[in-house]
Amino acid sequence: MKLFMITGVSSGLGEQIANKLIQRKEKIVAIGRKFTKSQLDVSQISPELIHLLNCDLANDNDLNSLLDKFTGDYFNDVNEIVFINNAGVIGPIKKVGQYDDADSIKNNINVNYFAPLILINQLVRIAPITKKIKIINISSGAATKAVEGWSLYCSSKAAIMMFLSVLEKERDNIEILNIDPGVMDTKMQQSIRNSNFNEFPLIDQFQKYKDDDQLKDAVTVADEIVKRIIK
Ligand SMILES: NC(=O)c1ccc[n+]([C@@H]2O[C@H](COP(=O)([O-])OP(=O)(O)OC[C@H]3O[C@@H](n4cnc5c(N)ncnc54)[C@H](OP(=O)(O)O)[C@@H]3O)[C@@H](O)[C@H]2O)c1
Repeated sequence: MKLFMITGVSSGLGEQIANKLIQRKEKIVAIGRKFTKSQLDVSQISPELIHLLNCDLANDNDLNSLLDKFTGDYFNDVNEIVFINNAGVIGPIKKVGQYDDADSIKNNINVNYFAPLILINQLVRIAPITKKIKIINISSGAATKAVEGWSLYCSSKAAIMMFLSVLEKERDNIEILNIDPGVMDTKMQQSIRNSNFNEFPLIDQFQKYKDDDQLKDAVTVADEIVKRIIK
């Protein structure tokens, strides 16, 4: 049996991946600061299938109390653990020199890099060596391509990808899959369109993706990802 652990299931891609896994009756541990009504309902009706762990991934106290709850008990009766690092933030969208407070910078780095690093370290620390571990990192073209205005997003996405490359070299029982989902119609794209030309010179191009209906549907992307990781 597989155990799926996934971050950020309240909206967008994470919500849709969680929906697909719930439909398939897979065993899930979902981590986030908000959950949808249907996730809350399923966790009440079938607690053996979905366990919801409340955590603001940008908050150190939340992260520490999550680590206390994140124990080896989850892995009983499981031979493979699939950890999906999905939660992510794009902002603040600004050029270097325009950032005006450290907290908003830390928020981005914490969600995109620090929290997944801490959670994956804990997973590797407590999961018995006999279990297969697959880490699905929802990445982005921005992890390898510099985009003006996205210095935090590009660098934090690049950092977690490199962290995982090192981990993959260190352990034979761990497989890493970086997936760039492409440009999807989610809240993240809304934040991009809500920025301005001074901070993000490509804003018109991203507005056009929306106007011309070129954004991918998160439901379709989630379907492809789940099919890929289930086999
Ligand atoms: N949309 C795109 O075009 C695109 C392109 C390439 C890659 N991606 C990647 O796809 C992944 C999913 O993004 P999305 O497009 O589905 O955007 P989204 O709808 O904004 O979803 C982001 C998820 O991350 C969670 N999250 C953000 N900050 C959090 C925090 N402090 N603590 C806990 N959870 C937090 C959000 O929860 P809250 O509701 O609590 O904020 C939400 O569930 C991200 O890793 C993103 O980098 C997206």
